[in-house]
Amino acid sequence: MVEFRFEVKARDAAGRIGKLSVNGKTIETPAIMPVVNPKQLIVTPKELEDIGFGMIITNSYIIYKTPELREKALELGIHGLLDYDGIIEVDSGSFQLMRYGDVEVTNREIIEFQEKIGVDIGTFLDIPTPPDTPRERAARDLEITLERAKEAEMLKNIAMNAAVQGSTYPDLRTYAAKKLSKMNFEIHPIGAVVPLMESYRYKDLVDVVIASKLGLRPDRPVHLFGAGHPMIFALAVAMGIDLFDSASYALYAKDDRYLTPEGTKRLEELEYFPCSCPVCSRYTPQELREMPKEERTRLLAIHNLWVIREELNRVKQAIKEGTLWELVDERARSHPKLYSAYKRLLEYRDYLEKNEPVTKASAFFEVSEEALRWPIAQRAKERAECVKSKFPETIEHPIFGRIPKYLSLSYPFAQSEGEEDFTIERPGKGEARDYIMAIAEYQFGEGAGEAFKDAFVELSRKTGMPRQIKAKGKHLATFRAEDGLLTLGIEGAKRLHKVLPFPRMRVVVNSDAEPFAKRGKNVFAKFVVDADPSIRPYDEVLVVNEKDELLATGQTLLNGEELKLFQSGLAVKVRRGVGG
Ligand code: GUN
Ligand code: ZN
Repeated sequence: MVEFRFEVKARDAAGRIGKLSVNGKTIETPAIMPVVNPKQLIVTPKELEDIGFGMIITNSYIIYKTPELREKALELGIHGLLDYDGIIEVDSGSFQLMRYGDVEVTNREIIEFQEKIGVDIGTFLDIPTPPDTPRERAARDLEITLERAKEAEMLKNIAMNAAVQGSTYPDLRTYAAKKLSKMNFEIHPIGAVVPLMESYRYKDLVDVVIASKLGLRPDRPVHLFGAGHPMIFALAVAMGIDLFDSASYALYAKDDRYLTPEGTKRLEELEYFPCSCPVCSRYTPQELREMPKEERTRLLAIHNLWVIREELNRVKQAIKEGTLWELVDERARSHPKLYSAYKRLLEYRDYLEKNEPVTKASAFFEVSEEALRWPIAQRAKERAECVKSKFPETIEHPIFGRIPKYLSLSYPFAQSEGEEDFTIERPGKGEARDYIMAIAEYQFGEGAGEAFKDAFVELSRKTGMPRQIKAKGKHLATFRAEDGLLTLGIEGAKRLHKVLPFPRMRVVVNSDAEPFAKRGKNVFAKFVVDADPSIRPYDEVLVVNEKDELLATGQTLLNGEELKLFQSGLAVKVRRGVGG
């Protein structure tokens, strides 16, 4: 039995913070696995663990081919060989296949060896077809990879990577991703992208990653094979990448190169260190240059690891704050090729919109021209346009242009910063209900305003802003001060359920979950049987049973498509159940 789980905890852009568990060990994603060369340990796996890396990757092919290592691995297991208790993933020799054209092992042999030495996550012998390979060749290679995937699926008793190949042909990538998603694998790396990254072809990288993501099941973690430079973390995570691996920390160090989140520096060009890690606070660049090669390499490697960790933490913090696009925008300024990739990514509007949360903890900052093309801005404008048909009165917004007056309290219109200020006016006399109806249309779609047509809106005595929304003495909803959107009470949910036809805003759960949802307990993904495909992350939803009877209301973490597919983790954070 394979013991493996992946669940999503928080998200922003198409990125996510997740929890990955394998064989009783858990790490938070996005995560990076430092590459450990079993023949040359510049930094030991123990030290990596101490710096905070809970997962490493090494190469089972090198171990297999080196008699001393092989004996020791078979005797002690790979955790014993490397003296490391965390999660150990291994590659299969595929990279050697790409670099040298040939390997001396079969798919079956390497899979069986991986299992024998007790790896946590294995990799079968996929064929990494380089960029720009003639199409016939790429398609033929891919068929072999898929054959090997089938063989691996039959043989494997461990968690395993199934790499998406297909060179630079988006349709082949999507096809491969769909095929592999139907098979029994745990992680999907995107393969053969190292040559793209080495030559700064980040725009092509975006095309390859999105084409792959479009075919992959959203409930499996995705690894960008061979990506370990911190300058691309933000962009890659925003596309939906969960895992990275880095040999660069060591390779660059050997070459006297110093990583920063904005790019690579040569030690010889540095007068000052732009970093305060233990290495950079202790030494000056000059002191490092004067050290013996081996010591210098080790210290540079340690700095590089710190920077990698720091940038991943920055990305995760940005996800929590809802500022990942800002970080992507900022990083895109460090290299023209990265900027071009960022603009390319923004062209994938449907993919991005599906994954974009409906609300964020931070205000919308118009930090650049591109900000207006972020999915949150595009969606806001589109939805506002729909609301205009029912609520035609508009006002001028310095960032978004003419918006319906009654949306002027809601995210992102009120929660935005541009060059000019937008003055928020509190609802005038007798207007509060129109605000709530317009917000309902904006948040839940056409027709939702009906649910509040006889509502009475309490205004805060202090701020004059809407607070509780009631009708006939019953609480329908709360106007959230933070984002100007609505949290439904159970009476409001009942009304919305009545005015919106099935399946709108519905998350359908099976009978096992029914009593729990009714009592206000959270809904887990494995109980969800159906969902409105237009639901977006962090939407307020209606939880119903298979007869479309309302059970509860709450906030979903997943979009409509994911709600149907995910089998682990939370689906809806229930706020209120109908009771009983
Ligand atoms: N390492 C870097 N790229 C690849 C790839 O495409 N496949 C495998 N197995 N390992 C890699
Ligand atoms: Zn440093």
